[in-house]
Amino acid sequence: MRCLITGVSGFVGSSLCDRLLADGHEVVGVDCFVPYYARQLKDSNLAGARDQKAFRFIEADICKLFETDDEASAKKADELLGGIDVVYHQAAQAGVRASWGRDFEIYVHNNILGTQKLLEACRRHKSLRVVYASSSSVYGETRKFPMEETDVPAPVSPYGVSKLAAEHLMTLYHANYGTHTVSLRYFTVYGPRQRPDMAFHKLIASILKGEEFVLFGNGEQSRDFTFISDIVQANIDAGNSGKAGGVYNLGGGTQITMNNVIKLIESLAGKKARIKYVERHHGDVTHTGASVERARKDWGFQPKISLEEGLAREIEFIGKVVLPLGL
Ligand SMILES: NC(=O)c1ccc[n+]([C@@H]2O[C@H](COP(=O)([O-])OP(=O)(O)OC[C@H]3O[C@@H](n4cnc5c(N)ncnc54)[C@H](O)[C@@H]3O)[C@@H](O)[C@H]2O)c1
Repeated sequence: MRCLITGVSGFVGSSLCDRLLADGHEVVGVDCFVPYYARQLKDSNLAGARDQKAFRFIEADICKLFETDDEASAKKADELLGGIDVVYHQAAQAGVRASWGRDFEIYVHNNILGTQKLLEACRRHKSLRVVYASSSSVYGETRKFPMEETDVPAPVSPYGVSKLAAEHLMTLYHANYGTHTVSLRYFTVYGPRQRPDMAFHKLIASILKGEEFVLFGNGEQSRDFTFISDIVQANIDAGNSGKAGGVYNLGGGTQITMNNVIKLIESLAGKKARIKYVERHHGDVTHTGASVERARKDWGFQPKISLEEGLAREIEFIGKVVLPLGL
């Protein structure tokens, strides 16, 4: 199979890339290294892939790379997508808290415009499948659990709005042009290579370094956490068996409060955390919890990694890879 991954140097993109290469597939990876977090981490994520013949890296902004407005650009995009079986669209400006204010422009560019440009280019290739990394943040603050794909989405952050807009573009291009799109709503992904702005990463690094961890809220907020290899497997399965135009929740089924996560990490790391509680941020939701029935029915989605095991692997990664980089 020939695959294209957008956002290939990021947390999910690079993990998916390594798995596809290990399975014997060819991968074209695209990334423009948005400066949201340290470039060193992204270079380290890509190091293994870059050594392999079956991998080709293109450093580019997807808004430019998939431009089809003039003939010359459209020809280039066609050449790139010709022969590609699946596009795994992971590129996005991530982060809920940074999405307020003037930086929303960055979210519009990378998350909405980037997706629209990609879809315009993909609709010219009828046999192509597009798997899109959507987010549980499209649901917003809800009292109904578990969250189901049929619930009316009501995001409470500009980031969530941008992810939902891109998801709508997916279903729109399917309905209007027959493009085979599948959207996957990830519920908080964690594990080795997790982004350094995410709570587990920050918490583990602070415990290992003996530094203070700033916790937004009272710690009783909970998330449905999903281990990275379960997300990677689901991307592959969705590319093979996801229904065209479909939207799927992907949750690990391990709903736990931050206060209990802290206790678990303390016991796994053998060290105490120093927590500073501060007021909750706008855009943060209180709880998330996914119904994964739809993915279970369509391709047998079954998360395999327990929270204890997943956290132990993330602790090891941060200790061995992140801290030695001086980050
Ligand atoms: N990590 C999670 O818990 C989570 C949860 C829900 C949804 N998601 C979604 O999953 C995807 C991957 O998230 P991640 O945690 O790996 O983030 P990440 O920031 O580690 O990776 C995203 C990558 O996309 C690249 N990128 C951004 N805009 C680009 C553009 N215009 N052109 C080319 N490359 C561009 C960035 O440089 C980055 O390397 C994102 O779409 C994110 O919204 C992630």
